[in-house]
Amino acid sequence: MIEFKEVSKTFKLGPREVHAVKDVTLTVEQGDIFGIIGFSGAGKSTLLRLVNLLERPTSGRIEIGGVDVTSLKPKELRKQRQNIGMIFQNFNLFNSRTVAGNVAYPLKLAGTPKSEISRRVTELLQFVGLADKAANYPDQLSGGQKQRVGIARALASNPDILICDEATSALDPDTTADILRLLKKVNREFGITILLITHEMEVIQSICSKVAVMEDGEVIESGGVFDVFTDPQHGTTERFIRSVQQDLPSPGILKEWRDAGGGKLYRLLFKGAIANEPVLSRVTASHGVTFNIVYGSVRELQERLFGNLIVSFSGDPDAVSRAISEIATLTDIEEVIEIER
Ligand SMILES: Nc1ncnc2c1ncn2[C@@H]1O[C@H](COP(=O)(O)OP(=O)(O)OP(=O)(O)O)[C@@H](O)[C@H]1O
Ligand SMILES: [Mg+2]
Repeated sequence: MIEFKEVSKTFKLGPREVHAVKDVTLTVEQGDIFGIIGFSGAGKSTLLRLVNLLERPTSGRIEIGGVDVTSLKPKELRKQRQNIGMIFQNFNLFNSRTVAGNVAYPLKLAGTPKSEISRRVTELLQFVGLADKAANYPDQLSGGQKQRVGIARALASNPDILICDEATSALDPDTTADILRLLKKVNREFGITILLITHEMEVIQSICSKVAVMEDGEVIESGGVFDVFTDPQHGTTERFIRSVQQDLPSPGILKEWRDAGGGKLYRLLFKGAIANEPVLSRVTASHGVTFNIVYGSVRELQERLFGNLIVSFSGDPDAVSRAISEIATLTDIEEVIEIER
């Protein structure tokens, strides 16, 4: 478990102070894949550097497994660092060492016996699917393969925690999906807690169980991925979600609908099991109203269903309002008002 307790980090640049992390309180449970998302400069990398002890907080405490790591002595600190693996956007591999040499490096540093190193390197390269590349140099690998080497190296010291700083940002979408699958396997097979930062909502959507949104050094929202995605509390969170889920037709299409005399549009959200139930057809039929689904989707998120439908109703106006009121008792419904977003 990683606990941030009122953690702040301020950098002094001459007379100027940069408040990179402000009063962050956050708990990452053992075995979580915890994502931190935010725009550039939000303080994400700084927060990670506080976890792997490359930076010390200006105030507050960071506890890992109940131990306050901010007060560790140098020897204990070195030991704690071995417990935390890290992978990077630009891979940070040694170009002068082979793939096997890169993975062996942290084991050599830790004074592991030679025979043990060679056994472990073979095992790790097999795990990441690069057994046949052991003798190659990083320059001879694709980006995805380089990141696999990065992951093997990060796992070499058997860490409990893996930290990923924009680990897939330099990769194309297919390769990103491959690497994310590998990270999921790392989490599942070894029970390693993964803390990852990204500016891509796809990454959060595809592998994280929990998410925190950072802005200007602060955590402005956090929670389970399903809850945050289906009920964001903050405008910035909504912007990130919209980058992966277009929940409204584009302004042009909405305008076309209105210009053609289309009536009021309503947005309905269905969450979990209710997405299976024919709520819309049952309620409208009972009020003698008809409906038209103009736009929408039902998708799966964290193994739960989440439906977002844009609907218009027609029929006697009083009956329509009664139907809408009844739907409102069963699920979220709101009129679509803005044309521009
Ligand atoms: N060593 C440092 N000295 C001074 N200022 C720093 C230092 N490291 C980070 N900052 C500042 O702290 C703020 C947060 O930076 P950080 O790198 O944590 O953001 P980020 O969310 O990781 O951004 P990006 O998505 O671009 O990587 C920025 O304003 C940055 O300029
Ligand atoms: Mg960063």
